[in-house]
Amino acid sequence: MAARLIDGKALAQQVRERLATESAELFEKSGIRPGLATILVGDDPASHVYVKNKQKACELAGIYVDDHKLPAATTQSELLALIEKKNADPKIHGILVQLPLPKHIDSKVILEAVSPLKDADGFHPYNFGRLVEGHPVFEACTPKGVIKMIESTGVPIEGKRAVVVGRSNIVGKPLALMLLQRNATVTICHSKTKDLPAVCREAELLLVAIGKAKFVTADMVREGAVVIDVGTNKTPEGKLCGDVDFEPVSRLAGWISPVPGGVGPMTIAMLLENTVESAKRTAG
Ligand code: GUN
Repeated sequence: MAARLIDGKALAQQVRERLATESAELFEKSGIRPGLATILVGDDPASHVYVKNKQKACELAGIYVDDHKLPAATTQSELLALIEKKNADPKIHGILVQLPLPKHIDSKVILEAVSPLKDADGFHPYNFGRLVEGHPVFEACTPKGVIKMIESTGVPIEGKRAVVVGRSNIVGKPLALMLLQRNATVTICHSKTKDLPAVCREAELLLVAIGKAKFVTADMVREGAVVIDVGTNKTPEGKLCGDVDFEPVSRLAGWISPVPGGVGPMTIAMLLENTVESAKRTAG
């Protein structure tokens, strides 16, 4: 393997240790313990695992967790009432509404009901708009984690040709904006892009969030590129697998992130960071 590994798990551990220290210092200085409200509606098993992992990480970092598990039959107005309560609760600095929500609930209405000042996921249009304008407050966790992973390589972002594959509101679009803010030249590719392999081959930074197992093959990668794989797909055997065909691409790339152990742990670490930063803002 020629590429060096971007170890998201190790990087996330470093972030979490720093946040544990910062939370303890904040509590000592101002009596404020960072607090995250987690709201999970229904019984999707994967969502239960994700929320449990986030809660465990919070507790290890000294973040107070306010856990709300609601039945699948919860109405939109009941959920809105809970969010309103958490918006007004001074012990809470971040609110996480786990997605997907049951079909009878409009996710857009719910995400817009979360106070932009407690939007630890960075999904509120206010925070998205702040990012567009170049002055972000809360940044979405996954793209924020991807930026930290690129920075960890020591490869400067400024002036680089960056290609983002995928244009979702929670990864592709905000990631492209974060790269632009750091003076990369950014292209966003999607299902209608013509000759996508040729565009990818130009990338010095190739960031893949398209949700298709092993979509990026070695012929799509420029030699020495930094390749970050945001994909979490399941193989027919039930194994977790990224959007990048890891083995052949790693013989060509300069840096590559694995799945699992890449972006996933960093997403959780960034949720904690957003919560601690929010608590610090309330302390002034
Ligand atoms: N569901 C899958 N990923 C996420 C995430 O990052 N945040 C929330 N709230 N829900 C999710």
